[in-house]
Amino acid sequence: MSEVAEFDSLAWFYDRYWGPEYAREVVVPLREFLVGQLPPGRPLLDACCGCGHVTAALADWGYRTAGFDLSPAMVERARRNTAPTRLWVADVLRCGARDGSFGSVVCTYNSLNHLPADGTSLAHAFAELRRCLEPGGVLFFDLNSPEAAGRTWHGSFTDHRDTAVCRTDSEFDPRTGTGRARLRVTRPGADGKAVHEETSLTMTAYPWAMVTAALADAGLRLRSVRSAPALGLPKWEGRVFVVAERTGDI
Ligand SMILES: C[S@@+](CC[C@H](N)C(=O)[O-])C[C@H]1O[C@@H](n2cnc3c(N)ncnc32)[C@H](O)[C@@H]1O
Repeated sequence: MSEVAEFDSLAWFYDRYWGPEYAREVVVPLREFLVGQLPPGRPLLDACCGCGHVTAALADWGYRTAGFDLSPAMVERARRNTAPTRLWVADVLRCGARDGSFGSVVCTYNSLNHLPADGTSLAHAFAELRRCLEPGGVLFFDLNSPEAAGRTWHGSFTDHRDTAVCRTDSEFDPRTGTGRARLRVTRPGADGKAVHEETSLTMTAYPWAMVTAALADAGLRLRSVRSAPALGLPKWEGRVFVVAERTGDI
């Protein structure tokens, strides 16, 4: 695991703007998929939890939440946002949770799109998340499709907020299904002077056939797949929301 993660330099901006905004949207499908399936009080793992905004919403619904993320800076912010949730720094390919210890695992905001395009990482991540689930437990995740990646990981845009700006320059290669974005945040520092932070993010967009094959290889049965517009989230067109169930014994 690298000591500096891609999202470290984005943590301030993500914590303040993008994390809370997405959490407000993704609770719609989460409510539909989870409530009724997993009673309050059950253990729930937020994989790639970022700054913990989704984790906090799930804790508010009464779940016994835990979470991990590759970025120490994101986890540090999640600790402030979700106390007393158990949080740790880990890679989704080897997260360190106990076998079969969660009734449900969630992984939101296209976190799995940030795995390498090596043809095996997605299946390894699914296998690892399946390992954390009790038999019959459900995995909820969302992914950007190659079509959405081609549309959104393209060109430059500047996100102006009250006191901060994030400029993104991105490109996506439909041939390889991979994208890269350079993000530059300018924000006020503690002493009032501007702070500049920069990072590069990589992304992999998987054809749907690859996703279903990886789920099957990992021992996860597809239960439901819904598009963002079908869930009343038109802004996220091209994103799919998926529920899969752990089959078999530990
Ligand atoms: C777009 S953010 C989503 C965060 C959070 N799930 C949410 O909904 O706000 C993607 C997150 O995935 C994390 N991530 C990327 N690759 C990871 C990996 N291999 N293992 C664990 N976390 C990873 C990043 O550090 C980042 O916090």
